[in-house]
Amino acid sequence: MDWGLANRMHRMLLPASGNTVMLAVDHGYFMGPTHRLEDARATITPLLPHADALALTRGILRHSVDPTTSTPIVLRVSGGATVLQDDLSHEALTTSMRDAVRLNVSAVAMSVFVGSPHEHDSLVHLADLVDQGEEHSIPVMAITAVGKELEKRDARYLALACRVSAELGAHLVKTYYCDGFSKVVEGCPVPLVVAGGPKLDSARAAIELARHAIDEGAHGIDMGRNIWQSDHPVAMLKALRSIVHEKATVREALDVLETERAHPTARPPVATA
Ligand code: 5RP
Repeated sequence: MDWGLANRMHRMLLPASGNTVMLAVDHGYFMGPTHRLEDARATITPLLPHADALALTRGILRHSVDPTTSTPIVLRVSGGATVLQDDLSHEALTTSMRDAVRLNVSAVAMSVFVGSPHEHDSLVHLADLVDQGEEHSIPVMAITAVGKELEKRDARYLALACRVSAELGAHLVKTYYCDGFSKVVEGCPVPLVVAGGPKLDSARAAIELARHAIDEGAHGIDMGRNIWQSDHPVAMLKALRSIVHEKATVREALDVLETERAHPTARPPVATA
């Protein structure tokens, strides 16, 4: 791996744990002003110092994130469909590598829609993006989209989507936790991070999801709604950090959540690189 590409990977995956706590705030690109992300700047600003990377689109980056930030940026560069369409898989590359370079990003990200009507296009777009990423030493994260067909969130489907993404050259893959997740990890030669999906019934459920994913081999989380739709988003993010970086148990992470709710500390417990 080229030095520049490796350096960008290690900005996101902290050397001490090899893992990352990525904050996902890209939902508006197809969902519009998502609940509690309507004012993106207000949502992002208090969370940013506690995230190892921030995943978003160029519009929200330019309008809602202060350029003094040192948090690595994972730029979503695919889009083209909204929740108004039945078929969300009709995406293309919507941001050039040239603009990604201009924005000084640490990685670019796009959705791949294995098993969907536009499977072929999304896979060819991924391969094209990897070629461009290699040229500029910018890692590519493939996002294994499950769209509206949540029943596809099973190990066989996700293992296929993750492996195909890695075979086409993705340097990092975002997927979903599922029963049999270790099989998804085993079949994927590049680091996997897990999304949270729609807000779960409790903070405990989201923390358990992260604990199970890390135990079964994930290199971190790329989580959104279970953090910023929480009534205590910074405390939730810190609790998740303890899972991802400090091997905390679910009970210990819930203690972090309670303590941070009562007495917030200024910085995350794990120093950033
Ligand atoms: C939207 C995405 C999200 O970034 C991803 O789903 C993570 O966010 P959440 O934890 O809310 O699911 O890719 O397309």
